Amino acid sequence: MKNTTQQLLSELHGREKKRVLFVCLGNICRSPAAEGIMREIVGTEGEADKWVIDSAGIGGWHVGQQPDRRMCVHAGRRGIDLTGQRCRQVRPSDFDDFDIIIGMDSSNISDLCDLARTPDDERKIVAMGEFVSMATRYDHIPDPYYEGAEGFELVLDLLGDACRNLFDRCR
Ligand code: 4NP
Repeated sequence: MKNTTQQLLSELHGREKKRVLFVCLGNICRSPAAEGIMREIVGTEGEADKWVIDSAGIGGWHVGQQPDRRMCVHAGRRGIDLTGQRCRQVRPSDFDDFDIIIGMDSSNISDLCDLARTPDDERKIVAMGEFVSMATRYDHIPDPYYEGAEGFELVLDLLGDACRNLFDRCR
């Protein structure tokens, strides 16, 4: 884990609310799943009132839509309900409203850096791959949009692992 990420996470310790935004390209597959999984973890741990969790997309193609049906099905099988979520696009004020903004792959990170208004904004951007500890050691969350069922299962495995590690590191 990068020093800067560790420092950012240390700053979250003891905050009354930890505000996390997950970002992917479309906000219909990876980031809604990350939001759902993280909500499940903080709920199970009795810390729901200590977190603000949201997700957004770099692109605006799916704004207002439910997450991808395939992701809803695969997540639903794991007890994670994504059907209440609606897609939205990243906006500049997200850098004011969240403490940490987590991109799913290097392209998301680079797009987020373009949207950052100041060095302080840019400091909040972190790669989800930094929290993955699975044996396969993925350094990003691969886009499942053009993949089959295995792609969605892999994403959910990686996100489950990464969200757990994020939670443990913020406590
Ligand atoms: P996501 O997947 O970034 O994980 O939500 C995608 C969803 C839609 C598109 C690309 C990726 N798209 O090009 O519409």
